[in-house]
Amino acid sequence: MMTNAFAPMPENTQSSGQMQAIAQTEYGSPDVLTLEEMDKPVPQANEVLVRVRAAAVDAGVWHLMRGTPFLIRLIFGGLRKPAIKILGTDMAGEVEAVGEAVTQFKPGDEVFGDLSESGFGTFAEYVCAPESALVRKPANISFESVATVPVSGLAALQALRDVGQVQPGQRVLVNGASGGVGSFAVQIAKALGAEVTGVCSPQKVDMVRSLGADHIVDYTQTDPTQPRQPYDLIVDAAAYRPFFDFLPALTAGGTYVMVGGSTAGFFQAMLLGPWVSKTRDRRVKFLESKPNQADLQTLSDFLAAGKITPYIDRTYPLKDVPQAIRYLEQRQVQGKVAISI
Ligand SMILES: NC(=O)c1ccc[n+]([C@@H]2O[C@H](COP(=O)([O-])OP(=O)(O)OC[C@H]3O[C@@H](n4cnc5c(N)ncnc54)[C@H](OP(=O)(O)O)[C@@H]3O)[C@@H](O)[C@H]2O)c1
Repeated sequence: MMTNAFAPMPENTQSSGQMQAIAQTEYGSPDVLTLEEMDKPVPQANEVLVRVRAAAVDAGVWHLMRGTPFLIRLIFGGLRKPAIKILGTDMAGEVEAVGEAVTQFKPGDEVFGDLSESGFGTFAEYVCAPESALVRKPANISFESVATVPVSGLAALQALRDVGQVQPGQRVLVNGASGGVGSFAVQIAKALGAEVTGVCSPQKVDMVRSLGADHIVDYTQTDPTQPRQPYDLIVDAAAYRPFFDFLPALTAGGTYVMVGGSTAGFFQAMLLGPWVSKTRDRRVKFLESKPNQADLQTLSDFLAAGKITPYIDRTYPLKDVPQAIRYLEQRQVQGKVAISI
């Protein structure tokens, strides 16, 4: 975490003290996570200290918790033991104090953000974050609701708009439409003017319909790779079959965007996608989402305007983060799981 325990206390800082957080000292199942008392962080000059009111869990959290795939240990450090002591990427809360170089926020502001590139640590009562990782929370949305947006919403937005370059009127297929990324992808694609088909399991059909999908494919009844009319864009957030299967479902010049699913599928798209894009009239791309303030602001505007509404399946208290992750791993979640702090 980007904190310095020896830095002078910045202006507006209330007394430092203790906080509760979910700590991780080894890789493994949710049993490795424990609720602990620890020092409240102190913001550096460019940082904001946030009293966390809500967080969320997503697939990235359990990858980091389990240390799988192994590549994740190389990317984030901690080959044998996790380098990240407090997990949690998504966050919404109130600014409690600001470092002396912070210009955008002041104590009392309500903010939300994605801390995947700024130290994680949102499964805690307090966290420090650079101001560039945060935007103001829309006043009409709850902390729990907004906290579920950053990671999944940014992935959906960047997959559709930047990688997929979706245009109004285009036909878009969202595979994994009932999941965290998929539930935002359906709504954002609609907001960007697309005709949207969501693919999901039978138990989640009503949920995907409630997101506003124009058409729904229950994959136990209909093969989503054999549509009557092809798609201009396929966003695959549940890539558990080879991307080659989806190529016939694309229009000439259409684009398949790999978001996530199996590790093998992800590497297949990363390695073979450029070759397919060169040799066929279909483009295969993969998403590497990156948090940034402008995109968070776009999501905030969508939220404020009612263009996206997070679909929250369950909310757990901080002490029950392990149960929240267990539930996520069971693959029953519809939309998002929030953590209320
Ligand atoms: N590339 C990037 O930058 C980026 C960014 C964010 C996330 N991701 C990745 O994107 C993927 C989706 O993330 P998410 O947060 O939306 O996950 P999620 O909430 O767990 O949703 C995934 C959905 O996939 C469907 N699914 C189909 N087959 C599955 C299987 N064998 N195992 C598990 N789920 C299956 C499930 O829906 P049904 O029950 O309806 O089948 C589930 O709702 C993850 O792999 C995540 O790591 C990538």
